[in-house]
Amino acid sequence: MTNLEAPFGALAYFLDLHPDTGDFKTDVLKGLAQPQKSISPKYLYDEYGSKLFDQITELEEYYPTRTEKALFLGHADEITAAIGNGSAIFEYGSGSSEKIEWLVRGLAAPVAYVAMDISKDHLIESAKALAGALPVPVAAICADFHAPVELPQGVLPPPDSWLGYFPGSTLGNMLPETAIQFLTRASQTLGKNAQFLIGIDLEKDIGVLKPAYDDAAGVTAAFNLNLLRRIRRELDATLSMDDFEHFAPYNEKNRRIEMHLRAVKPTSFTIDGQIFDFQEGETIHTENSHKYSVDRLKDLIEQTPWRVNHVWTDPKGWYAACLLSNN
Ligand code: TRP
Repeated sequence: MTNLEAPFGALAYFLDLHPDTGDFKTDVLKGLAQPQKSISPKYLYDEYGSKLFDQITELEEYYPTRTEKALFLGHADEITAAIGNGSAIFEYGSGSSEKIEWLVRGLAAPVAYVAMDISKDHLIESAKALAGALPVPVAAICADFHAPVELPQGVLPPPDSWLGYFPGSTLGNMLPETAIQFLTRASQTLGKNAQFLIGIDLEKDIGVLKPAYDDAAGVTAAFNLNLLRRIRRELDATLSMDDFEHFAPYNEKNRRIEMHLRAVKPTSFTIDGQIFDFQEGETIHTENSHKYSVDRLKDLIEQTPWRVNHVWTDPKGWYAACLLSNN
């Protein structure tokens, strides 16, 4: 194993694969030079952005977090029975203890929990908190889930098989072709007899979808607009916050909510001497949140090495928990 650092606090181990976290300025300049201006959603999650995102998950209008929690908890016995004995959990994007504790406690003899995340400080903090709360060894790997990861060998009790865990409908933030690549890579990483438990948001009435991404209190707007604040502060852009607004349309064709920053009037700003012009209504695209039907989700999985073992949905059909098997 490469880059093994000394164990961190109560963690069984901590492995830093030094993920490429990108260069903000380079990526912003490149993104703003495209015909449809766009900036990677990863830049929404600075310290303040991450706090705002946590607030989003608690909003009345933001149904996915609580719907997922109720779905997992409501079917915990069935889900853990379907998973079986002796697996070690590998979570993509490190979670809060709430999202993981039911799984660890429900599984028959899980052997370990390994958290993976791109954000090192956040990862270490949450993994350490989990190490104190969970009855199994906890380890952490700092890595990008779009890059190859090798699972640790010889540092944890060997699991019979790995269980990938990917809650929060983060799979829906990827373009379908990227989701296929991600799932294919995860199948290689997790290996023979692995399973993968995924939480994914489903298509539903636009009247429910829209407010979830454009809430009355303006938390989602503040989260999206925080990106412009970062650009102004960190890149000394000459931009006026008043010239832009949060815009979250539903794209019918691609079945996704899109997040944009929209110019409310003709405006321009400068970064490093480069001028970026906006017509009224022109946008910077910042995120996609794809909404699947169970059938389209199954079609997607069919294009990966996984097969669908079981899909659970809540009574309203708003959200799905999907258990996949390798081989
Ligand atoms: N995975 C979340 C989702 O698609 C991410 C998210 C929720 C999000 N609200 C957002 C991303 C607002 C950007 C802006 O539901």
